[in-house]
Amino acid sequence: MNKPYIPERRDFLSGLAAAGLLGLTGCGGGDSGDERMTTDGMGRGNVSPPTGLGAGALRLPANFSGDTLSTRAGAYDLGAGARSGALLYNGQWPSPLIRLSPGSTLDITLQNQLAEATNIHWHGLAAAAGMDGHPTEVAAPGAIRRYNFAVNERPGTYWYHPHPHGATARQAYFGLAGLLIVDDGNDAARGLPTGIRDIPLVLADKRVSNGSLIYQPDFMDIMTGWLGNVMTVNGAAGPVTTGVEAAVIRLRLLNASNARVLNPALASGRSFWLIGTDGGLLAAPVAVNSLLLAPGERADVLIDLRGDAGQTIKLVSAAFSMAGGMMGSGMMSAAPSQGSAFDLVTFSVSAAPGGNPGTVPATLSPIARFDLRTSAGSRKFELTAMGAMTSGLHRINGLSYDSARIDFVVRRGDLERWQFINFGMEPHPMHVHGTQFQVVSRDGNAATRFATDLGWKDTVLVRSMESVEIALRFSMAGNYVLHCHNLEHEDDGMMLNFNVV
Ligand code: C2O
Ligand code: CU
Ligand code: CU
Repeated sequence: MNKPYIPERRDFLSGLAAAGLLGLTGCGGGDSGDERMTTDGMGRGNVSPPTGLGAGALRLPANFSGDTLSTRAGAYDLGAGARSGALLYNGQWPSPLIRLSPGSTLDITLQNQLAEATNIHWHGLAAAAGMDGHPTEVAAPGAIRRYNFAVNERPGTYWYHPHPHGATARQAYFGLAGLLIVDDGNDAARGLPTGIRDIPLVLADKRVSNGSLIYQPDFMDIMTGWLGNVMTVNGAAGPVTTGVEAAVIRLRLLNASNARVLNPALASGRSFWLIGTDGGLLAAPVAVNSLLLAPGERADVLIDLRGDAGQTIKLVSAAFSMAGGMMGSGMMSAAPSQGSAFDLVTFSVSAAPGGNPGTVPATLSPIARFDLRTSAGSRKFELTAMGAMTSGLHRINGLSYDSARIDFVVRRGDLERWQFINFGMEPHPMHVHGTQFQVVSRDGNAATRFATDLGWKDTVLVRSMESVEIALRFSMAGNYVLHCHNLEHEDDGMMLNFNVV
């Protein structure tokens, strides 16, 4: 690029001081990580554990058909009966699953029957200009908006949700969030499980009070993001149960939580295989015991259940601690802290009927790594949370989102290196529209990357005081955004506009 953007150099300590200052507004100390719903240490009312929820059957999203997604108010059912108050695509809870093949055209008309503006962002797809669900490109109440663009993505697990600035978090939370699978029909030939052995799991924590979904973020919730007290799996309160065959199964995991980072693992601690990330398949399966999955991220995994007929195998989100996570602990809120354990799905395994139980393939789909020596330039994005007690708390390079401001311009076809530096106490899953990227390093070290960093990504977790470098190239001109996918942070303004020209 002609003029690389160099942010004003700020003192590292000022970020720390701001974070510390915010710490003083908290309860002080208490970072033991075992604060739970029973006490929040602040005398605030606690959400009672919901009754009659959980232990239901896994449901699968309905397959999308036709050419219209209408948004309207409707009912949700967490497993204990229908209640009104949801916002739905085509009246469905959970949202319909869209299947597309590479090289096809996505041609879907949004009919907005909500009383507020909305739009659709196709998270992970490089949508053509005007088709990306940019915050300024919305359908007014009663209006329609047509999305029509070529889908050239690698086969994998993508998703879609609204993106009207300031309302994204609430609209997605109340039900507008669905999976979009790009499928080239060759997964069986790749040796991957298909059909009933290929299971989509949309994971999202919700805050439930007296059986009803609630969403009323206060200042502290905007700091941490809206953390729930109930995990839902495809819209049902977890844990859910499902029967599976004693075979190699594929799970397509999406973390659709507003703010909660998950840590999928088998309760037994045994390993499983990561086979795909945000932008499709890895070069080869990678054995893992758990993987951090931040809001917006997807992980495709294989679990080998071939020897488990008659057993019960539990998928959980295992407890974890996040460095500097005191402010992210949720200790101020009526929900378990960031890093708390949740049960997700219980699989009851039955003998595989006759057929082939499958294997874990040795190789998947090659990934050509970018040659960083050809990079046209680099950019730095400093992530901060400053002590203002109003909106605009979370910023990128000191900026709070302004739809009328273009924050930087990228040349189409240029390879760029971007560095995200998190000066705050919260984890920030950083998401870039318009392309898939590669993770170069964490804190300057390629060796400490996560297993999920080895694939194509559109969202990357940047932990407190961590820097993450990515490499990326845009092939499409247009107006895109870059933002934190903690949806409360995003709505608070942790988002920038950029143009690809
Ligand atoms: Cu899934 Cu701009 O977001
Ligand atoms: Cu996106
Ligand atoms: Cu954030």
